[in-house]
Amino acid sequence: MDRRTFSQLLAFGAGMFSASHVAANAAAADAPSVDNVDKAVPDGNGPVDGEAWPASPVTINDFIPLAQAKLPKATFEYITSGSEDEVTLRDNVDAFRRLRILPPLLHGVQKTDLSTSVLGQKVSMPILLAPVAALRLFHPEGGRASARAAAIAGTICVTSTSVGNSVEEVAAAGNGPKWFQLYVPSDRELAKQLVKRAEASGYKALVVTVDLGERKDADLRNRFSLPKDMLLKHLRDIGHKQVSDRNTYEELVAFNAKAWDVSLSVEFFQWLRRETRLPIILKGVLTKEAVQQAIDLKLDGIVVSNHGGRRLDGMPAAIDRLKEVVDAADGRLEVLFDSGVRRGGDVLKALAMGAKAVLIGRPQAWSLAAGGETGVKLALEILRDELTNAMISSGCATVDDISPSLLLSAAT
Ligand code: FNR
Ligand code: LAC
Repeated sequence: MDRRTFSQLLAFGAGMFSASHVAANAAAADAPSVDNVDKAVPDGNGPVDGEAWPASPVTINDFIPLAQAKLPKATFEYITSGSEDEVTLRDNVDAFRRLRILPPLLHGVQKTDLSTSVLGQKVSMPILLAPVAALRLFHPEGGRASARAAAIAGTICVTSTSVGNSVEEVAAAGNGPKWFQLYVPSDRELAKQLVKRAEASGYKALVVTVDLGERKDADLRNRFSLPKDMLLKHLRDIGHKQVSDRNTYEELVAFNAKAWDVSLSVEFFQWLRRETRLPIILKGVLTKEAVQQAIDLKLDGIVVSNHGGRRLDGMPAAIDRLKEVVDAADGRLEVLFDSGVRRGGDVLKALAMGAKAVLIGRPQAWSLAAGGETGVKLALEILRDELTNAMISSGCATVDDISPSLLLSAAT
């Protein structure tokens, strides 16, 4: 199979190359043997509630070797790697390290309240689960485990179109607040049905990801791909009734390659705004111009994000773009943030720069792989504890007390 076709598959058709380019590759593809295809994680032998961890994670990074031990190499690298030279991936994390917090003394704060609201939804802390594709490849419970962990933590789970479970399966996994991240089927009628199904299943907002185009060297080298059954389920979950297990793998790949709209424009958002009353959030914003577009389109929120360094390599660290975006938004729409959050202190820094909340991508994927629902719950608890500590140390009793003056650059 053509290397690009493998790589395209992992994005489930969205965000990779142009559809026609991929379709041409798919047509030329030879079938992978079963051995060639990455395996799901069948054992489910991660710690379950009440069981001890092999090595107890105390930081987000502690989950990385645990995930690595559980997953096939290609799957682990699919999660962990970034695009091309990984400049943006590294910078996302390093830029947080460069920011300095200068806390006031004698502030008298002993207790904290981390709760806040995001687009009108009350959450127990300003940390949400980012949309992540292929969760079912990382752990058999997939998006359902993430949804349950978020519900227990009292926060929002944003479910990816490409999570590996249907909209309804994730919705049934618990009654916590959920948003749906939309990759857009090229068949507009199907896109409409997907939106309606998300509405009917109780998702409270749509997150539309607009930074498309993924090219990760690790995935190309590993010839990372989805197993046939997962690709088929994914396409059927989206609503494609014409595909079945009678299709060959190549046929499914070719079908998938044409199934997604990778040329989103203003027109799409005008259409979407007419089709739904759900709040719409634009994910992938890095500039003040994009903020203005979101405002002009009457959208409700934005996520400042470079997709965790998984899209165009060379884009700046997302945290280095946050201030410009917040200033441009000027309170007219809600600003969320992701890309590079690994510590509660990072959350404090993003909130100090004006984000309402942050989302976590890889921390969720690693912890899910390491321990399913228990893993994601623990990751959220670790971040909550670290944020609590950072807030107490900075004299912030509530998240509203987290202000720009805490950051050294703003204070000097
Ligand atoms: C993602 N991300 C993502 N985003 C999205 O809008 N739809 C998706 O399906 C996916 N899929 C996906 C898979 C994996 C394995 C990862 C790690 C990430 C991007 C994600 O929502 C988020 O923007 C970044 O992960 C944030 O960066 P960190 O937290 O990984 O540093
Ligand atoms: C990713 C896609 C699928 O980041 O959004 O892998």
